Amino acid sequence: MFFSLRIWLVTLLFSLCVSASLVDDIISAIENAVDCASCHTLLVALQGLALLGDSIFDTTIITVCKTLKIVDDDVCTGIVNEQGPILAHDLRSISALGQTATKLCNVIGLCQPPAVNKYTVPFPKAAPTNPKTFESTGKAPFQVVHFSDVHIDRSYTTGAEVNCTKPICCRNYADQTGPTTVPAGPMGSHHCDTPGVLAQSMLKSVATKNTQFSIFTGDVVEAAVWLVNQQEVTNDLQLFNNEMSTLLNSPIFPVIGNHEVAPVNAFPRNTSSSPLSSQWVFDTQSQGWAQWINSTAAGQVQHLSGSYSVVAPGTNLRIISLNTIYWYKDNFWLYDSDKFQPDPNGILGFAVQQLQAAEDAGQRAWVIAHMPPSGGDAFHDQSNYFDQIVQRYRNTIAAQFYGHTHEDEFVIGYSDYDNQNANTADSIGWIAPSLTPRSGNPAFKVYDIDPDTYEVMDAHVLISDLADPSFQTAPTWKVEYSARETYGAIVAGGWPATQSLNAAFWHKVTEAFVTNDVAFQEFIGFKTRGVDVEACTGDCKTTTICGLRAMRAENNCVTTQPGINFRRRDLESEHTTLSHDDHCEGAGLGFIFGQMTSKNLTQEQLSTLRQELNEVIGDAA
Ligand SMILES: *[C@@H]1O[C@H](CO)[C@@H](O)[C@H](O)[C@H]1NC(C)=O
Ligand SMILES: *[C@@H]1O[C@H](CO)[C@@H](O)[C@H](O)[C@H]1NC(C)=O
Ligand SMILES: *[C@@H]1O[C@H](CO)[C@@H](O)[C@H](O)[C@H]1NC(C)=O
Ligand SMILES: *[C@@H]1O[C@H](CO)[C@@H](O)[C@H](O)[C@H]1NC(C)=O
Repeated sequence: MFFSLRIWLVTLLFSLCVSASLVDDIISAIENAVDCASCHTLLVALQGLALLGDSIFDTTIITVCKTLKIVDDDVCTGIVNEQGPILAHDLRSISALGQTATKLCNVIGLCQPPAVNKYTVPFPKAAPTNPKTFESTGKAPFQVVHFSDVHIDRSYTTGAEVNCTKPICCRNYADQTGPTTVPAGPMGSHHCDTPGVLAQSMLKSVATKNTQFSIFTGDVVEAAVWLVNQQEVTNDLQLFNNEMSTLLNSPIFPVIGNHEVAPVNAFPRNTSSSPLSSQWVFDTQSQGWAQWINSTAAGQVQHLSGSYSVVAPGTNLRIISLNTIYWYKDNFWLYDSDKFQPDPNGILGFAVQQLQAAEDAGQRAWVIAHMPPSGGDAFHDQSNYFDQIVQRYRNTIAAQFYGHTHEDEFVIGYSDYDNQNANTADSIGWIAPSLTPRSGNPAFKVYDIDPDTYEVMDAHVLISDLADPSFQTAPTWKVEYSARETYGAIVAGGWPATQSLNAAFWHKVTEAFVTNDVAFQEFIGFKTRGVDVEACTGDCKTTTICGLRAMRAENNCVTTQPGINFRRRDLESEHTTLSHDDHCEGAGLGFIFGQMTSKNLTQEQLSTLRQELNEVIGDAA
């Protein structure tokens, strides 16, 4: 590290005194950043900037963001002031030419992810030769509700502009002048996050489902990521904990989402040299969740970075809740070192320990988490290591449950990714659609669970349709479809009523999608609950099916493209515009850099930029 810093100082002095100025270096690096090699050059220039201090770094990026009109001025300023110092810290701590830098360039959209760093996850015991089998005795299933990505906007304002220029609307923004063209109704809009009353309506509907318990796969806070702070997030977390507590009549097993912290996504590793910490998130949730999980588990939330494990009351099912944001590419704290850190904050180790405890006790287990380990935004390394764990404990894990994508979908794990078929399919991840109407009609899932195997026998998706005339006054929650009815009907040879909707079932569903395009397009419609549905054909279809078969992210067929963030939906719909499509990161720093490097600058923009940056950097240097 010191070596590279020294080179940097030398280069910097050279560039300030002798050759062209840093301003020219930065502008030319941005202009010329078109591929992976030139992205590293850009990071070299940005590293020089970061060495001048956070303030100059932020001001420079804000200036570029505003000049290129990547997002509204206040959004540029807010996002960069929140997240810029983390990136500057990263750049001062790593080599601009190393693998961590390549990973940063992957977030910007200019490098493919580097190959997986080989690492063998240690297990306390070898897999049993005669694993315990879990057989259904045909008892009536019990119900579990799964809801996710509620993204409640406590500043939602009825009557505010729906058609705004920011990542989320239906708020009073200071720079929004002129008459309102589309006023927000009280219950929500597709351009906005969730009003409190809509979340309450959903919880009241959940309460009627006679559930044994619910799982909530995270993201409480809205996506106004340029404004969030610790006080707001803490307040939002506490409010929703209280609402769940008041309105639901059975336990809730929650997880930590990437919006549960401020700045958004920013969970530092425990190896970080920065004094900043997200301990306040774990303290808040440990306290808020103690009513549903026992004191041992509440202690784990506090001391194990938000993860916990608990046996659901009255069952033989161990629920293992993992904070997967330490495997998330948009967590900019994960780029602060060149040192190989296979298991940030011990999340993988905790999963192994708890799965071993379940195996030893003859229990079944569910893994629940916010970010699925399978997407384009999951690090290939940690996804690969997690997949090793899934494969080791495949007889114990009955199912996995995730959120984060905002879409109604699923993902399959295999014992052999080179030979994907119904026999090698051995783990299933259920991904819940979002409550926030920003990504489609608000929805949640109700599972029928076999009480012997804890496998899913059926899933009903319930939605509330924003186009329904009564939605704004009295939203209703109706069954959109049953997974067994809809997909059981397309599986070759049918699916026996006694069999769960396991990984083999879902593999056969994907096989049916290949040949039965009507069924595939119906699935595409379900993903966003009938909103903004575009036909997905050709590459889109191939990539989507590939993604469904890729619990191990290195197999997901996502290729990085300049200017297009790596979320699957972006690839599918080719929506490259800001805001309403960038579901989870919420137009963060990765988006801004992605846009910055993918635009062709006009002569006018170039000269404005040169002028502005000369003022920012020239003064300081
Ligand atoms: C939304 O705003 C854009 C730009 O301000 C405008 O062109 C468009 O007509 C508006 N849409 C509606 C439905 O008012
Ligand atoms: C909490 O539950 C776990 C799992 O069932 C158990 O091992 C632990 O002893 C419990 N803790 C307390 C304080 O009851
Ligand atoms: C970080 O967390 C891991 C896993 O819990 C632990 O083993 C390690 O000692 C911690 N490191 C520091 C510096 O706290
Ligand atoms: C930028 O310019 C290049 C070369 O002239 C062209 O191939 C590319 O399509 C342009 N990109 C955009 C986003 O306009």
